[in-house]
Amino acid sequence: MRRICELLSIQYPFIQGGMGNISSPVLASAVSEAGGLGTIGTGTLRVDEVELLLLDMKKRTKKAFALNIPITVTANLKGMCELAVKHSVPVVSLSAGNPAPYISYFKQHHIKVICVTASVKHAKKAELAGADLIVGEGFEAAGINSPFELTTMTLIPQLVANVQIPVVAAGGVGDSKGFAAALALGAEGVQMGTRLIATKESPYHERYVNKLLEANDTETVIVGRSVGKVRRVLKTAYADQLIQAEGAGIHPDDFEAMTDEEKHRIGAVEGRLEEGFINGGQISGLVKSIPTVQELFIEMIEGAEQIYENQMKGFNDLYLRQ
Ligand SMILES: Cc1cc2nc3c(=O)[nH]c(=O)nc-3n(C[C@H](O)[C@H](O)[C@H](O)COP(=O)(O)O)c2cc1C
Repeated sequence: MRRICELLSIQYPFIQGGMGNISSPVLASAVSEAGGLGTIGTGTLRVDEVELLLLDMKKRTKKAFALNIPITVTANLKGMCELAVKHSVPVVSLSAGNPAPYISYFKQHHIKVICVTASVKHAKKAELAGADLIVGEGFEAAGINSPFELTTMTLIPQLVANVQIPVVAAGGVGDSKGFAAALALGAEGVQMGTRLIATKESPYHERYVNKLLEANDTETVIVGRSVGKVRRVLKTAYADQLIQAEGAGIHPDDFEAMTDEEKHRIGAVEGRLEEGFINGGQISGLVKSIPTVQELFIEMIEGAEQIYENQMKGFNDLYLRQ
């Protein structure tokens, strides 16, 4: 844990995942101010739009934060990389594509590089190319997922066994139990998306937040598998439309149009759940409250410590019985 905190200049080993076009400096700065690493996402936004978000972010916090660049999604990749350097962004997180060609550029400019991966092969390549940290994202996670569909439980220990750089677990973590479990698997921190949607600082539509609060354990669904674009969303009228379209054999380009970032904004920001989708991970069924980000982090730290203490007592009892 300490390794991650020192590397990223943060207090707690908690990273906010990128949130594409609906990224908000309000939420990201709340994460950084609470001691984690807030993230500004870029999705399909233009470079000038992201620049405004960065300027806003820098006004709100002097603490470390990250810029998430999803490689195959970002239209002007070169421009986005240059923007990160122009604004001396402390950390860049690269996802959704091969990060190797870009890592040395950021390292030359003293920017720390996180690579989000979902397989050992890709993690090893990222390490070889100079990445500072691997975020291993399991299939439980909200949003675009890897077609490998490895769960966090199985992915993280295999990553830890195969790379020397720190590994952070993403996908299915939203409380102290998940954090403690991730540590047990060998992760040195966690990245969260879904849980942060239901926080006091979250700027998203109340219908999105309420969907999370009301979700049960089977409230998420995978869309896009038939067209090679695996995405986990919450069950809504719009998600039903996507599933029906896939059942009818929709062309990949038409599916792409049905799931573009504007459709995400319509669902998550405008709350029009019949016309746009909302990302949600399998942790949704455990989201039952709206804490501040700070309250969430403290529960996660103190709760995990308590869990480890209790488990130690359990082991001691076992030995005493022998
Ligand atoms: C609303 C939303 C949008 C997301 N957009 C992105 C993105 O643009 N880039 C990315 O790398 N991950 C994205 N993700 C995934 C998160 O960064 C994070 O890795 C994931 O949510 C962790 O799993 P969890 O949902 O179980 O917390 C998104 C997640 C959510 C909830």
